[in-house]
Amino acid sequence: MGKPVVVLGIFNADTGYRAARLPKLGETIMGAGFHLGPGGKGSNQATAAARAGGDVHMVTRLGEDDFAAMARAVWADAGVKPHVIVDRESHTGSAFIFLQEGTGQNAIIVCPGAAGRISEDDVEAHRALIEGAGVFLTQLEQPQPAALAALKIARAAGVTTILNPAPAAALPDEMLALVDILTPNESEAETLTGLPVTTVAEAEAAADALIARGVGAVIVTLGANGVLWRKDGVSLHAPARAPGPVVDTTGAGDAFNGGFAVALSEGQAIADALAFGCAVAGISVTRHGAATAMPARAEVEALLAS
Ligand code: RIB
Repeated sequence: MGKPVVVLGIFNADTGYRAARLPKLGETIMGAGFHLGPGGKGSNQATAAARAGGDVHMVTRLGEDDFAAMARAVWADAGVKPHVIVDRESHTGSAFIFLQEGTGQNAIIVCPGAAGRISEDDVEAHRALIEGAGVFLTQLEQPQPAALAALKIARAAGVTTILNPAPAAALPDEMLALVDILTPNESEAETLTGLPVTTVAEAEAAADALIARGVGAVIVTLGANGVLWRKDGVSLHAPARAPGPVVDTTGAGDAFNGGFAVALSEGQAIADALAFGCAVAGISVTRHGAATAMPARAEVEALLAS
């Protein structure tokens, strides 16, 4: 097992609706299926990393309700160590997930509840945990000041920092300068830079623009085209792995981030860590759900060896 991976982020109970298309405003349509399951980008990433063999710690806020019990159950099953502030004045997060029949593409609305109240004080209370990490990983579903505070602690302690800038938001240069590895998808890279990102060359240009603002390296996740690593003007491309038909892409980015983080925490070389993350993501999209789709280490190794 590698050094600890500490994740700051949120848990949601995902309510997933499968249908041919999204309804228009004022319209009712019939769906093709429903599932209720564990989600939230931070929690999904922590679950992916733990199932992939990491020593993983999750810092978050939960309410005291049935969805909080769902969070604790999925973490216990995966081996994620929870560091939870229980917030009795709010509720555990939830998300509406639209899944398009046939393509597995999704559209999401997040209501973070208690996790929307994660504060800089909450982060400070976990200073020693963050300082002891090998890799610190966060996203943008909890308030930005909390993410910024945690990145400052991690950077000062020499911990490798990964920011998955999702959902997309404008970020100050002060925050970008604290990030060793930024992992936007194409649309997030566009939002962050104002540049189009539809080709590999455009992804490289966007990555270079982010590096010029202070980020150490950028991984642009390209969906079915895999991922592009960019640092110091040099690119590495890792192709997507597809061990079966794609049924649900909801947690694909989270699967990649979790897998990549745990590979880094083990000291794997960047090219190997990218391939490892792609294998975790490739398996996850062949299954329904977000956290429940994350593969076990043995499955990832089998795919990498195939
Ligand atoms: O990245 C997918 C996740 O985004 C879902 O699980 C949903 O909860 C939202 O946080």
